[in-house]
Amino acid sequence: MLNTVKEHSPEAIAKKAQEMADGFLKKSKDKTLTIGIIGLGYVGLPLAEAYNKQGYNVVGYDIDPRKVEIINNGDVLLKHMDKTRMETLRDSGLLSATTDIAALKEADALLICVPTPLNAHREPDLSYVKKTTVELAKILHPGQIVILESTTYPGTSEEVILPLLEAGSGLKAGLEFAVAYSPEREDPGNPNFETSTIPKVVGANTPAEMEMAVATYNIITTPVPVSNMRTAEAVKLSENIFRLINIALVNELKTVYAPMGIDVWEVIDAAKTKPFGFMPFYPGPGLGGHCIPIDPFYLTWKAREHGVSTRFIELAGDVIAQMPKYVIERISEAMSTHLKKPLAGSRILLVGLSYKKNVDDMRESPTLHLIDQLRQRGADVQYHDPYIAKVPMTRDHPEYHGMQSVPLTKEGVAGFDCAVIATDHDNVDYDLIVREMDLIIDTRNATARVTGLPKDHVIKS
Ligand SMILES: NC(=O)c1ccc[n+]([C@@H]2O[C@H](COP(=O)([O-])OP(=O)(O)OC[C@H]3O[C@@H](n4cnc5c(N)ncnc54)[C@H](O)[C@@H]3O)[C@@H](O)[C@H]2O)c1
Repeated sequence: MLNTVKEHSPEAIAKKAQEMADGFLKKSKDKTLTIGIIGLGYVGLPLAEAYNKQGYNVVGYDIDPRKVEIINNGDVLLKHMDKTRMETLRDSGLLSATTDIAALKEADALLICVPTPLNAHREPDLSYVKKTTVELAKILHPGQIVILESTTYPGTSEEVILPLLEAGSGLKAGLEFAVAYSPEREDPGNPNFETSTIPKVVGANTPAEMEMAVATYNIITTPVPVSNMRTAEAVKLSENIFRLINIALVNELKTVYAPMGIDVWEVIDAAKTKPFGFMPFYPGPGLGGHCIPIDPFYLTWKAREHGVSTRFIELAGDVIAQMPKYVIERISEAMSTHLKKPLAGSRILLVGLSYKKNVDDMRESPTLHLIDQLRQRGADVQYHDPYIAKVPMTRDHPEYHGMQSVPLTKEGVAGFDCAVIATDHDNVDYDLIVREMDLIIDTRNATARVTGLPKDHVIKS
């Protein structure tokens, strides 16, 4: 602690801060840093693997004993991290997963990767982050750095994390321990990028804290320093808001072009040949996942505190929210014109349940809204998804728990009036769907890959 006037001089403060950083930087140079990861989910587990690959000791902490056991056994937790990867992680002897927070005392860097959902009023739910921070403060010791990776609104690290850590530990941020923010850019299931090839934005409020944060991420990728924590928080939200707006736009274009007889996917494919100034985004049955439908509204909430409105973001959210309804209308029309049947009483096979292709994640998936609305209109709906054999328990749709994937075989699809392709997994037999079904509503242009078969009964929507 700094007690005297002399000790409060800018030079004394800078010196103390640098001493804190020097200990950490020495360990970083010697490659003896221990990394603590809090929350071993879609973000935390691949991050643990990235440090493990570089030969660093990792302590992984999660409140879920089931996950901890799976990881320590070398079993599969996330479908896109296969058994070989999990066994390599276990056999390295460098990763210990635990439910005992005291184990994090030995970590030099503490990376928080816990959920940041919206609550029932669509406002930020920071309860996981706050709970974790309060617990971490109890074990915090001088020389450690705490870095929040969870997506959140600008100001969280400075206004929520930092004061909770100081109050709970009695230590001073920036002098005795460090705080930073670094947003996660993980894209589960994307084979084109891995941690080492995704640059990492890092924000810290003082030079010493920035040095420590940059040293932490230098181990696994290229850090991109920005001037402070709130800027780094804003970077993440801006990236996801950019996606939200563009996805909403392209969905609107879909609804405008359809009655003109123009195929929006053909438009996008041609437009993207422009070597500059255009970036392709693709339409679908609605917005899904734990990021794009949620993160932009963290900014909306925070903007209100500053008396600023976010009309553009809210408009994009409204446009996207209409998509499941739009698709249902197209299904109803197609049933009537192609099969001369009403939607009520029909049997619909939904192909793809997860919110995006090649993953098993169905959080916030628009496909669940499709099932809801189709059932409300009297249709009998079943699904096929190679990644989801059985619907797990979900907070918003407990009633679908236990539903099972219909096999995608000639016999399995017999008796269904219509297939609705909601997610374009690569390992689905689209030829079989086009060959065997009388009517297909394709919301992802997945049937474009089917060649040599008649497609008059395929309606893009
Ligand atoms: N999944 C992605 O692709 C992705 C990408 C970028 C950013 N993010 C952001 O990263 C954060 C984490 O997302 P995720 O997808 O990994 O979530 P997740 O639900 O897959 O994992 C979170 C983990 O945290 C654990 N946890 C909850 N409370 C805890 C506590 N108090 N202490 C310790 N562990 C706790 C849970 O048991 C779970 O294992 C969120 O803010 C999310 O928005 C996610």
